[in-house]
Amino acid sequence: MNVFVYPNSREIGAAVAKKTAALIREKPDAVIGLPTGSSPMDTYAALVELYRTGSVSFRRVRTFNLDEYLGLPASHPQSFRYFMDEHLFRHIDLPPENITFFNGMAEDCTAELARMDRILDTFTTIDLQLVGIGQNGHVAFNEPADVFSGTSAVTVLSESTRAANRRFFRSLDEVPTRALTLGMGQICRANKIVMIACGAKKAEAVHGMLFGPVTPALPASLLRQARDMDVYVDEALHSQIREQFGTEL
Ligand code: GLP
Repeated sequence: MNVFVYPNSREIGAAVAKKTAALIREKPDAVIGLPTGSSPMDTYAALVELYRTGSVSFRRVRTFNLDEYLGLPASHPQSFRYFMDEHLFRHIDLPPENITFFNGMAEDCTAELARMDRILDTFTTIDLQLVGIGQNGHVAFNEPADVFSGTSAVTVLSESTRAANRRFFRSLDEVPTRALTLGMGQICRANKIVMIACGAKKAEAVHGMLFGPVTPALPASLLRQARDMDVYVDEALHSQIREQFGTEL
């Protein structure tokens, strides 16, 4: 696990986008797993700029997203699909048929989970998996639990996760209570995992991921077993970890 410290999210975004574009140029039909949230926003903005300047084409890329709120249609401004359309998909030449996403309005969740698992199984390799990390150490919507989830699942969002995501909604009541998420086993399959973690609030989760036990109580800790993983942190998080734990990254 390699840790890179950058001054801020914007510079992390530029660095991660540059590496992602280089991968795509090397492998135009790359399979890339994508997260949502504030952490990847600068990366997506930088990827759009690289596309606009002709540095990269997504024409043959295939993407899948990690998760989606249960009960929000793709047209809902707070759905993860809407987020991805707004921040990336509408601005690049990624064919819609190459986008894989949970259907947040699925009537039959079991069938929807099986559908996603089947699609993931068709990818012989996952070339790159971008991830964020929740304040409680969740990845995608794999919340702290007693066991790791190997494949996709319906998850009940913890109150801390709902509170952390409440900033995108008018009130806490509007934040969904459940979500569809890929499992840690599927996330760890990727040839390369790149985590973006910014802000002092992530200190406990990132420190636990890097130095604590591998435990489903902190789902991100399982990523330590990934074959190749880079963690990008900003200076605010780096100094918080130094102050709070006396650890140098
Ligand atoms: C949500 C998403 C995760 C994301 C996390 C952190 O729970 N399901 O994929 O990593 O929030 O979000 P942020 O990057 O906004 O801190």
